Amino acid sequence: MHLLLEIPFFLLIILYSYLEAFIKFLIPTKKKSISGEIVLVTGSGHGLGRATAYEFAKRQCTVILWDINKNGIEETAEECRKLGATAHLFVVDCSKREEIYKAADKVKQEIGDVSILMNNAGVVSPTDILSTDDHDIQKMFDTIKAFLPTMMKNNHGHIVTVASAGGHIVAPFLVAYCSSKFAAVGLHRALTQELSVMKKNGVQTSCVCPMFIKTNFVKNPSSRMMPPMEPEEVAKHVIKGVLTNESMIFIPPFLKFSVMLDR
Ligand SMILES: NC(=O)c1ccc[n+]([C@@H]2O[C@H](COP(=O)([O-])OP(=O)(O)OC[C@H]3O[C@@H](n4cnc5c(N)ncnc54)[C@H](O)[C@@H]3O)[C@@H](O)[C@H]2O)c1
Ligand SMILES: *[C@@H]1O[C@H](CO)[C@@H](O)[C@H](O)[C@H]1NC(C)=O
Repeated sequence: MHLLLEIPFFLLIILYSYLEAFIKFLIPTKKKSISGEIVLVTGSGHGLGRATAYEFAKRQCTVILWDINKNGIEETAEECRKLGATAHLFVVDCSKREEIYKAADKVKQEIGDVSILMNNAGVVSPTDILSTDDHDIQKMFDTIKAFLPTMMKNNHGHIVTVASAGGHIVAPFLVAYCSSKFAAVGLHRALTQELSVMKKNGVQTSCVCPMFIKTNFVKNPSSRMMPPMEPEEVAKHVIKGVLTNESMIFIPPFLKFSVMLDR
């Protein structure tokens, strides 16, 4: 687009975003109650998964923690119990299909039907294309396939897919990462439509798209646009989005307009 056109367009988007924020501020959004729900968070031994598990624990959910790092989920479980929740932990490598299905069976037998699934464990790390291992969106399909049938049968549940700003906007040296996050966004959007066509309106979907978070995931996150966020701050946005059935959760919310501009 020509620069002279881009500037008024940009101003229009800013105006729109303020208007939207103002209207949202005036109309209090209804939040659903999730007390007593069985929530499973993959990769909950650290970072965003852990911080979001705490938010679910605060709301009296039963939390099920999956991670390859046993120490990590032990710490998360302890804190969840302090917050008053029942917590169960399973050491699962979410890049291995058999491990996912085996653990899913155990969860069903020992705990019950998972009604909120947060697919958070990210296997693809940001690096240049030639040093990337074969990447894997497969694990997300496997975890969803393990828990969605029961949610559909009960017509009750919520699938939370953790993608990234990199699922909408591309950057150099993030080829494999962006590919897998675009795939995660696509998975979320197609699944949402499919559930709607099948009239499973009780099964909600959300896609989480944050900018940089201060975790192990990115060693030195830095960006021209903004400093990295604390996982706790991001988790607050995630829980708010889940409780209001928000489909695409941009964090910070302003990211939505960068994505619109990019388009
Ligand atoms: N950190 C960021 O800047 C950022 C930005 C946008 C999106 N995200 C996404 O958020 C999600 C969580 O990332 P984070 O920053 O909290 O990372 P993190 O490294 O802090 O935590 C990830 C957790 O997942 C676990 N894990 C890794 N591989 C696993 C596997 N195969 N099976 C089971 N558990 C596994 C790790 O042990 C760790 O506890 C990822 O999907 C990531 O892509 C991160
Ligand atoms: C979210 O969706 C569920 C299931 O469809 C519904 O019961 C609930 O009322 C919705 N809540 C909000 C706040 O939209």
